[in-house]
Amino acid sequence: IKKIIIDTDPGIDDAIAIFVALQSPEIEVIGLTTIFGNVHTTLSTRNALHLLEIAGRTDIPVAEGSHVTITEGVKLQSSGYVHGTDGLGNQNISPPKGKPIEQTAAEFLIQQASLYSGKVTVVALGPLTNIALAIQLDPEFFKNVGQIVVLGGAFAVNGNVSPAAEANIFKDPTAADIVFTSGADVLAVGLNITHQVVLTDSHRGELAKSNGKFAKYLSKLLDVYFDYHHTAYNTRGVFLHDPTALLAAVNPSLITYSEGVVRVQTVGITKGLTIFYNKQKRAVEVTEWSGKPSVKVAVTVDAPKVIELVMAR
Ligand code: BDR
Ligand code: CA
Repeated sequence: IKKIIIDTDPGIDDAIAIFVALQSPEIEVIGLTTIFGNVHTTLSTRNALHLLEIAGRTDIPVAEGSHVTITEGVKLQSSGYVHGTDGLGNQNISPPKGKPIEQTAAEFLIQQASLYSGKVTVVALGPLTNIALAIQLDPEFFKNVGQIVVLGGAFAVNGNVSPAAEANIFKDPTAADIVFTSGADVLAVGLNITHQVVLTDSHRGELAKSNGKFAKYLSKLLDVYFDYHHTAYNTRGVFLHDPTALLAAVNPSLITYSEGVVRVQTVGITKGLTIFYNKQKRAVEVTEWSGKPSVKVAVTVDAPKVIELVMAR
């Protein structure tokens, strides 16, 4: 049974991913670490604690992550128009009783990866700052960690915060570049994958009627997320970004991937752009590319199966 740490900025799709994880018998969630992204870090921590209380899983530790980016000169911008200003669909949730542990997210990641060497999968559902800090603070981290599954990037498709960039990468592109070039076993699940995984209005209707553990709660959260997708994409469905990455970690057969180098543009109008370079197919002798370790980039997904698993769990 896989040990999983979820690094998260809850976030409506983060909330779904966390609940799906807690309902997945194949894995054990050994901690949540928090990061800015959809909301600032303090609110991410509050939301993570709140979700664990809803789930009756206050035994799972929450470690608070960085409040600042590694990339210099990036102004943090929350995504209230996507997830609600509180990150969880403006439900007026009451403050959680629990508190984060003393360790920072990076310290917790380093400690757990070394304790269970090669056996911890980190599922990164927000900007990659905490993971990059762990890589910088501990030269062994990239070897000790089992796999890092990243929800991030837009590989050969447009982004969602600019034509170039996906949100999690855009919000700390230097951190993302550090993670992708670290030599760790990284699997990137980008928008080219998650834009195929759509939860429809009729799924939401099923959730609203279901007596499943998290169904009604999630059906309410989803209102704001549906409104955003209707405005932004003119659809009556929502993309399940974070649950797709989580399920790819739980069940690798849901996706196929290619291997190659990924680099991230850190400045300018293409800031946050993720470029995939398949070393086997082309002969480009630029060491900033050919000299870097390969990562895995998801190229296909069994979208109906992902939706089925999310609904079932
Ligand atoms: C990512 O950005 C956030 O809004 C979502 O939670 C997801 O992690 C999608 O680009
Ligand atoms: Ca997220």
